[in-house]
This record gives sequence, structure tokens and C-alpha cells, in this order.
Amino acid sequence: MKVIGRMRSCFRRRFGAPRQGSVVAGSRAILKMTAECNAAMSTDSLDQYSHVWLIYVFHENTNLGGKSQVKSKVRPPRLGGEKVGLFATRTPHRPNPIGLSLVKLDRIKDGVLYMSGIDLLDGTPILDVKPYLPPTDSIPPHLARAAAWFEELPGVDNARVTIRPEAMQQLQFHVRDLEFYDAYEDVWGAIRDILRFDIRSLTMKDGGGGGREEPNFHFDNVLVYFSVSPPPLRHLCLC
Ligand SMILES: C[S@@+](CC[C@H](N)C(=O)[O-])C[C@H]1O[C@@H](n2cnc3c(N)ncnc32)[C@H](O)[C@@H]1O
Repeated sequence: MKVIGRMRSCFRRRFGAPRQGSVVAGSRAILKMTAECNAAMSTDSLDQYSHVWLIYVFHENTNLGGKSQVKSKVRPPRLGGEKVGLFATRTPHRPNPIGLSLVKLDRIKDGVLYMSGIDLLDGTPILDVKPYLPPTDSIPPHLARAAAWFEELPGVDNARVTIRPEAMQQLQFHVRDLEFYDAYEDVWGAIRDILRFDIRSLTMKDGGGGGREEPNFHFDNVLVYFSVSPPPLRHLCLC
């Protein structure tokens, strides 16, 4: 199998990357393909599509190449500790660590793909790009069904997210250092959408994970610290 290029993405680490790209519409990434792909030719006419499927390797999985067996049952974050079969989930930890994401194709310039609404990490090896074909790739809502635990979002999602005035000033200042954003509103919008969901692991929610430091994640070139106040849930963000 050949890698056709490595993603450049605003998500620098696994922690802070959304579980599906569509929940952070303002997330951004670019894909520059290898010379062998001859992108100027091979992406011709691709700009006629609004969305593409990306097929890729979960190269940051911690169990890659290890002896440990893939777990056949996993605990999806939404199920609060309950287990289901791995194939009933989108867990990155699978017999073959292959990811599949539907992302928005914003533009193509000189063979470089500019995308948004992504959930891939920076450096992700891309195996293929395929156009999304609405007539055949989408199932009419009255025929499509997903597990109830997936459809019913738990109450912690869609939290109110606020930013402290001093954090806002810092973020406005650091916009100049960002790779993917040049407007404060755009980067803040993406960070807010990330934090609308409770991204903490079960261990972090239990107060584990080591230390008293506020949780943080890398986003583009900033480190975002946040805290979660008790219900009604609210995150305060400090960059
Ligand atoms: C639940 S998976 C879903 C991925 C894809 N949409 C799918 O359905 O196959 C999304 C998570 O994969 C993780 N991820 C993204 N790119 C990765 C990579 N290259 N290596 C390891 N984990 C990755 C991020 O932590 C992200 O939150």
C-alpha cells in the first residue's frame, strides 16, 4: 500500500481531536500529495465535489506493531463505561488501523487540497481520496438507523463554552502565529466547537490522569487550557 501524502492538520494530538470531523466544521487541514501522484493531473475535476472521503492510517495509535491484541469490546465515550463490540464503533483501535472520514473540500490550488470539518491528526498518512457521491453514498433518513446510544447525545454535549477576557486577548495576539487561521473569530469558533463536547477521558472525569493542572490540548500552534465547572456544564478556556 502506498501513502499518497501526509495530512497537515490543526489537530496536533489525539486529545482534543473530535470523534467525527463534522462536529467541528471550522477545523482545517491541507493535503499535499507525493510527486508520484502527480496531483495537478490526478486531482483534475475533483473540485466539482463539495466533500471527499479520506482513507488513512491511524498512525498515532499507541498499540501499533505491539504484541497486544486488539480488544474485541470497547467503551465508546458516549456510553459512560459500557462496552460494545469494536465493529459497532468507530474506534481507531481495530485489527487494521484504517480510518475513514467524510470531510469538506473547500478548494484545490496547485494540486493541494484544502479541507475543513476534519478529525485527522497532523501527519496522518493518507491512502486514498474519493469523491462523496450524494445519490449513492447517502441513505435516506427514513431508511437509515444507528445505535440508540449514538443517536441520543448525552446531556454533557452542547455545553456552553466561554472564554476569559485575558484568554481572548492572548488568542487575538497569537492569531499571527497560527498555521491555519488568520482571524480570531475563526479559530475561536473551532475551539468552542471542540469544547461543546466533553472531551475528557473517563479517567480525567474521575479526577485521575495525574496532577492538578487544568486539562489542555494543542490546537494549531496554541495550547488551550480549559476547565469544566459543575452542571450546568460550562468550560472556561484559557489559551
Ligand atoms: C473515533 S475516530 C473516527 C475516525 C474516522 N472518522 C473513522 O470513523 O474512521 C476519531 C479519533 O481518531 C483519532 N485520530 C485521528 N487521526 C489519528 C491518527 N492518525 N492516529 C491515531 N488516532 C487518530 C483522534 O483522536 C480522533 O478523535
